[in-house]
Amino acid sequence: MKTQNLPTLSALEEFACQLAKLWGPGDIVLLDGPMGAGKTAFTQALARHWGVEEPVTSPTYALIQLYDGKFPLVHMDLYRLGSEEEFEMIGGPEYLQKPYLCVIEWSQRLPESYWPAQAWRLVFDYENSGRRVQGRWP
Ligand SMILES: Nc1ncnc2c1ncn2[C@@H]1O[C@H](COP(=O)(O)OP(=O)(O)O)[C@@H](O)[C@H]1O
Ligand SMILES: [Mg+2]
Repeated sequence: MKTQNLPTLSALEEFACQLAKLWGPGDIVLLDGPMGAGKTAFTQALARHWGVEEPVTSPTYALIQLYDGKFPLVHMDLYRLGSEEEFEMIGGPEYLQKPYLCVIEWSQRLPESYWPAQAWRLVFDYENSGRRVQGRWP
C-alpha cells in the first residue's frame, strides 16, 4: 500500500495525471474516503486528462453521469444509492465493462453482487490543510 500526500489541488491534479495514463476502457476506479476528501476533484482532473470538455460535476443526485472524451467516461457517486434494484434500474451494471471507463465515488455502496473482480481502489482523506491518498499504483 502506498501513500501520496496531496497538500494542494495542483498536487492532486499532477497525481491524477500520472494515474490517468495507466487507465483506459474497461478499467474500474473506486474512490473512497469522507465527504470533501477530494474524490470529485480527482475525477475532474482525470476527465480533463482524457479530453472531456464538459464540466464534470458531482453526480450525487443523478448517481451516474456519462462523459465523452478519448473514450466514454462514467462517473458514479453512490452515496445516495438505496438498493441493488436501484443500481440496476439506473443502468449501473452496463457501465462496469468496456468500452466504458468507470470511476465510482463511495464504492462501498456498490451492491455486493456487482463488486468487480479487478479494480483500482484509492482512499482519500484529510491531512493537515490538504489531503492524502492511499492505494496501490505502480
Ligand atoms: N488535495 C487537495 N488540496 C486542497 N484542496 C482540495 C484537495 N482535494 C480537494 N480539495 C478541495 O476540497 C473540496 C471538496 O473536494 P471534493 O473533490 O468535492 O470532495 P469529495 O468528492 O471527496 O466529497 C473542493 O473544494 C476541492 O477543491
Ligand atoms: Mg464527490
